[in-house]
Formats: sequence, C-alpha cells, structure tokens
Amino acid sequence: MIARLDVTPALWSQTSLALTPLASSSAGSEVDFGVDVGELDLEHLGEAPFAALERAVLTHQVVVVRGQERLSPRAQLDLTRRFDPVAKTYGHGHRPDIMKRSVLVQDLVSIPDVPEVKLLGNGRVKDHEGLPEVDLRHPSHRSFHREPLTEAQEARGLTRFYRWHIDAALYELHPPRVTTLLALEVPEPRRETVVYDDGSGDTLEVQVGATAFVSGAKAFDLLSPSQRAWALKTEARYAAHPYVWMRNARALPNGLGLVSEGRELQRDELPPFEVDKVMTLPLVWKNPLTGRRALQVHACCVEDLIVDGQPIGDLAECRRLLYELMRPAIAPSRVYAHPWRPGDLVIFHNRGLWHSVVGSLRPTDLRVYHQCNLAASEAPLIA
Ligand SMILES: [Fe+2]
Repeated sequence: MIARLDVTPALWSQTSLALTPLASSSAGSEVDFGVDVGELDLEHLGEAPFAALERAVLTHQVVVVRGQERLSPRAQLDLTRRFDPVAKTYGHGHRPDIMKRSVLVQDLVSIPDVPEVKLLGNGRVKDHEGLPEVDLRHPSHRSFHREPLTEAQEARGLTRFYRWHIDAALYELHPPRVTTLLALEVPEPRRETVVYDDGSGDTLEVQVGATAFVSGAKAFDLLSPSQRAWALKTEARYAAHPYVWMRNARALPNGLGLVSEGRELQRDELPPFEVDKVMTLPLVWKNPLTGRRALQVHACCVEDLIVDGQPIGDLAECRRLLYELMRPAIAPSRVYAHPWRPGDLVIFHNRGLWHSVVGSLRPTDLRVYHQCNLAASEAPLIA
C-alpha cells in the first residue's frame, strides 16, 4: 500500500512558518533536523497554515510549537488527527488485555474523555482531566536494562537512554505518522550525562527529562553501499504482541535493542493472536514528501529478519545485524535531546525518526505530559 498526503501540495506555498533550527550549531553537531515554530493558535489553524505545519513536520521531522499549556486533550487529538484524517484508534489500540501484560502499561494512562490521549510523566497528579489521582513513574532503565547504572551513579547525575524506538503497536495496526507530545509540567532543570556503556566511551549531556531523537534518514545515509543494498531487500518480522513478548527481556546499556538470553515469551504464552495480523515491515521507509529514505526499525520488537524472502531464523544474529546498522546513528553528535519547557508541544514524524526517553527522575521531579498518536490509515511508504 502507498502512503499519501491528505493536503493539496499547492497549499504549502500559500503560508509560511518562521522556522528556527533546534540543533546546536556547536562544532561537531551533525543534527540536521528539528525546528522551532514559536507560538501558534493550534485550535484555529486554517487549512493553509496547517498544510505549512504538515510540510514542516515532514521536512524537518521534529517541530516544536511553544506556549501550548492550554491545549486541551480534545484539541490535541483533533490536531493529531489532521495529519491522518482517516485514522481511528490510538497507535497501540485499545485492548486492555494486551496492554495490561505489556511493558508499556506502566507508562501510559488514558484521559477518560479522550482515551487516545495519554497522560505520562513522573510524580503524583491530582484531579487532572477527570483523573482523581494518579502516580506517574518516568520509565527507568533500572527496570529495563540488563546491566543498569547503580543508585550511586544516578545520584552523580549519570543516566541512560531508556529504549530507542518508533511509536507503533507492530501488530495489526500501522505505525502512526506523527506523535504529538505536550509538556505541561517539567522538572526543575538540571544537567545529566547519558552514558552509553557500550565500549565506545560515548557520553551525552542532556537536560533532565529530555526526549532524545535521531534521524532514520541519517541512519540510512551512514550505511555503506553494501549495507544499504542489504537493508533495502530486508524486512523485519515483528513478534506477535511484541510488548508482551519482550516483557521479561532486558536491554543493552545504550537502549538500542535487547540482550539475547532466551527471556522472550513463547508463542503459547502470548495472548491469542492471528497470524495474518503479525506485522512484517521493510527496514527502509520513504518520506512521502521529500522521498528521502530512512532506516526505520524497532529493534526490541523484531523476532526475525526476512532477507530476499528468506527468514534468518536466529534471533541473536538478527539483533547483531540490526545493531551494526543502527549504532552509528545514535552517536552523541547525531542526537537531538529536547530540553523541554512547559507548554512545548513537540510534533514528530514517527516514520522518519527514532526516539528515546532519557533521564533518572527523582520522586520529587514532577513531569506531566500528554501524548497522542493514531494508528495510521496505511502502511509506511516502501523505499
Ligand atoms: Fe515513544
């Protein structure tokens, strides 16, 4: 199936937005995506300004809109749906039997009146959008990485990337086109150091609670000619109910995939599934506007790789191959870690980026966010 845009390209030239690059211009930065568009009235955005916004998202991958503290969950859903008007359900669907057993259950709380919008963050939130009281917990690498940092290291300001991913159920539902993420409360700013602990010695300075992004297009560009040719003929077969399948597995220290030690659930331990809803997606997707190719894969959820139609059939080998392809893209100079301000709405192109939660939050760090994405109406555009 072919992805399409729902906005007439002619409208794009009618309105322009003031775009300020987000990336640091410091020497050595290779981040070539992300723009700040300042404040916009998102609830009354006409057709042409929306088309300009959509163009900015597809061109620059990450768009930050400032001053959105008052954007309601309903308005956030409406905005998110404008990027894919036919989309119906939340990106991970609405099946509580699956969510309850998945690694995502602790991270996402549905807003009662607008369940496609999720409350996430850290700390106790009271009387919030119809939720009397919720204890939020920032995802911690301590419960997910095979060899986490110690409490003492965290106290010294060290932290990790939690899990590099794209937002997608990867079973039955197509990966969302965009995710919108709204910061209502952010922790008091302090610096943390992400340590990769993967033998590289790499580290990255970030603001506490940042969200890290890297470009799938850059990841593809960094491949050697033979790797590119291989990636273009390879598909990822994702596990059935992947977030349940991986619930006992643990991640590598840089968050780029799982350790292979046989901890994934067996098929008969999973909730019932239908074989034709198990998802197989190409490794390389094409941007529907720019045509640029991006390496887009959720390494943690992959159960097998299909090369030229032939499955590899060895999970550890599949992970090794993916890691080799993906690791260059998360080098510190290629990561944009967004330092949130209250009222920031980040709209990101989920089909052209990978992202990760970052940070080691303390119980007193209040972080309150609304997130929305919708299972897309069509499969990603094949490169
Ligand atoms: Fe995410």
